[in-house]
Amino acid sequence: MAQTTLALAKGRIFEETLPLLAAAGIRPSEDPETSRKLILGTNRPDLRLILVRAADVPTYVQYGAADLGVAGRDLLAEHGGRGLYQPVDLGIAKCRMVVAVPEGFDYAAAVKQGARLRVATKYIATAREHFAAKGVHVDLIKLYGSMELAPLTGLADAIVDLVDTGNTLKANRLKAVEEILAVSSRLIVNPAALNLKRTLVQPLLEALANAVVARRAPTGAKAAA
Ligand code: ATP
Ligand code: PRP
Repeated sequence: MAQTTLALAKGRIFEETLPLLAAAGIRPSEDPETSRKLILGTNRPDLRLILVRAADVPTYVQYGAADLGVAGRDLLAEHGGRGLYQPVDLGIAKCRMVVAVPEGFDYAAAVKQGARLRVATKYIATAREHFAAKGVHVDLIKLYGSMELAPLTGLADAIVDLVDTGNTLKANRLKAVEEILAVSSRLIVNPAALNLKRTLVQPLLEALANAVVARRAPTGAKAAA
């Protein structure tokens, strides 16, 4: 039987996608937090889930190892989106990508003076494009996590990272000085899979899009309809 593969990342993305899958009538056969399996079945024999690192989701879908995936706009921007169809904004895992600096640092003055700034980030391509567009001179330093530590240890003057509540920045005495991107996660689809497996992929895509709309509808809208 033909099967569709949906790539998800463990943690936030998996947890926030779960209710949308449930609204589309899909339940994973196991809990990824307790299972060590990387391929999970679902209650539908024609759909399986694979668990990959968040940054690897676009790559799996681009090369067709997964037909669909859920990926943050941060990671899609960094990947470039080549070979990906991005039909649905799922409205989950919402946050912002920002430039942040130590509380006492006058970023605007440094930029005005044409200072060369050291910026640590996991989003090298996106940061490069942002600072180039603003005409800010930067040396970018690639990190894989805990970006907030970089300015506190003298590794960098500034960071490009994600902010939601602002608690992490605050706890580390940093402040956001520029917004780069409003982030939420999108459903991404391999275009060839959409053509070749249309009868499987298209209904799934529509069911998830409907689940997003239903979740946004004000309470009671269904009853009133
Ligand atoms: P890994 O654990 O593989 O290093 P990661 O830390 O990027 O990956 P998550 O923290 O689960 O994985 O983030 C996955 C996605 O969730 C990000 O790409 C981003 O789109 C979104 N995200 C990250 N941090 C937040 C946050 N604090 N609030 C809301 N959404 C977030
Ligand atoms: C993300 C991001 C920030 C934090 C911001 O990290 O990298 O550190 O969330 O959220 P806040 O503004 O609500 O504090 P995450 O929690 O995903 O941990 P990670 O470092 O493992 O990615």
